[in-house]
Amino acid sequence: MTATSAGTADFPHPAIAGKLEALAARDRQAVIASLLEQDSTRVDRFKAEAAGWRLDFSRHLLQDESAATLLELAADARVLEDRDALFSASPLNHTEGRAVLHTLLRAQAPPPGLEREYAEVAECKSRMGQWVQRVHDGSHVGHRGQRISTIVNIGIGGSDLGPRMVVEALGGFRVPGIDVRFCANVDPADLNAVLTGLDPHSTLFIVCSKTLRTEETLYNARSARQWMLDAGIPEDGLAQHFLAVSTNLEAAREFGIPAANILPMWDWVGGRYSLWSAIGWSIAFAIGMPRFEELLAGADAMDQHFHSAEARDNMPLWLSLLEIWYVNFMGAQVHAVIPYQQQLARLPAFLQQLSMESNGKSVNHSGQALGYATAPILWGDVGTNGQHSFHQLLHQGTVLCPVDFVLITGDTGASEGKSRLLANGLSQMRALMLGRDLVASQRSLTARGTDAERAAELAPHLVIPGNRPSSTLSCEALTPYSLGALLALYEHKTFCSGRIWQINSFDQWGVELGKEMGAEIFAALDGSGQRFDPSTDAALAGIRHD
Ligand code: F6P
Repeated sequence: MTATSAGTADFPHPAIAGKLEALAARDRQAVIASLLEQDSTRVDRFKAEAAGWRLDFSRHLLQDESAATLLELAADARVLEDRDALFSASPLNHTEGRAVLHTLLRAQAPPPGLEREYAEVAECKSRMGQWVQRVHDGSHVGHRGQRISTIVNIGIGGSDLGPRMVVEALGGFRVPGIDVRFCANVDPADLNAVLTGLDPHSTLFIVCSKTLRTEETLYNARSARQWMLDAGIPEDGLAQHFLAVSTNLEAAREFGIPAANILPMWDWVGGRYSLWSAIGWSIAFAIGMPRFEELLAGADAMDQHFHSAEARDNMPLWLSLLEIWYVNFMGAQVHAVIPYQQQLARLPAFLQQLSMESNGKSVNHSGQALGYATAPILWGDVGTNGQHSFHQLLHQGTVLCPVDFVLITGDTGASEGKSRLLANGLSQMRALMLGRDLVASQRSLTARGTDAERAAELAPHLVIPGNRPSSTLSCEALTPYSLGALLALYEHKTFCSGRIWQINSFDQWGVELGKEMGAEIFAALDGSGQRFDPSTDAALAGIRHD
């Protein structure tokens, strides 16, 4: 299988791009296993370490000269110079005229010039922690005096994916007696499933919406409110059961949530970068504020690494350069993240918004259409499950799909299952790299008793091309700290790629049109009579049973 060069017309830094095109033509013919066999130092050079994580990128179609040229590209693009903007109030999000300061949410000390913002974050975290404490110690109770036993987060996108993933990933760190559930979809089936079995009198809702204009969240918040009223909780008793997080404090108050129950968000935090803010309130309820602070500390450790490490040793930068290499020079249009850790099952879903809502763009900073590829389709699922669903394509398909395997390597002695999990992860990386040729396939058939003639017929079907690239991200244990560092790693990878592609990674204008059309079509379902296009009109007629 050979990758074709992606659209690199008018790729920035043309001289370096030309070199990379030529190097890619050579590296497409490389044999990864041979690169490792011929150079015993490769596995020690094609690695980066930070905040307890180790990145092994030795199993790639990438030779030394290509790696060095990618570093030249990063230098020419001034990626590491630009990273300072993530730690200052410069309007990195230029189409919305906003700074990008999610790093401030986890900063362990006020960055110069951001003392006011740092103080606001600290004050918000203090109020967040007081509520968590009061619910945990029972000093905050429901309208009828019952302790709160269930937190329901109502939010979608960045107001759901991050908190939901972190709460699931850190299941081993849960505070006893507190169940945390998430509702995101406007489909009533979502909220109905979440509310099933709950006692309204011991349920606390957190309405999370940076804008508080998101129709799904507003609809679900209204439905939850009605559920409480139907349970006999009076209007003036609702305040004990509703919290909110938003930049839109007025809308929260209009919904009937008192100011004391509302925590602020800031427009310098993008939704997909917001789990570190009060949007992560559900996380703090689930694992307690000290553990939430550990999550922040892990992210801050990765921030410090990203902010100070030289390019050669910079882990987020290497993840980004590998993305640029495969997308823009090796022709890949997809990228898989496969965590071999059940608690990280929702990591790919979180990374989809982070990567594809940030870098799924096709115009540059000046609004000019791009002639080159940007964000690939990020997908994935947990291992070993994927081995029994999509790994067939990874091994014998026709798609070039670089894979990030995420491994938690500690406590293998804890159980046979954990050892089997890691053995499977390592074997998948090895099989992707080595494959199995025709002779070995034939031999494997005869070894299981297939006669020679049949074996000769079948062998081509068992050939595994191999030479398929993957990285390994590994750490000793999945803790709040290590998870925070991992998520910050991918945030900074996303930043680096956006800078090299010269796009704005922090707006999301592409989601607006669908929302606008949704409002019109919703009105048409109610009989507004508006006509659209033959396909939509036919669908509407069918739904309305015209
Ligand atoms: O889909 C666009 C988007 O604005 C995301 O960026 C955001 O995370 C999500 O919708 C929810 O937005 P809000 O937190 O404002 O409800």
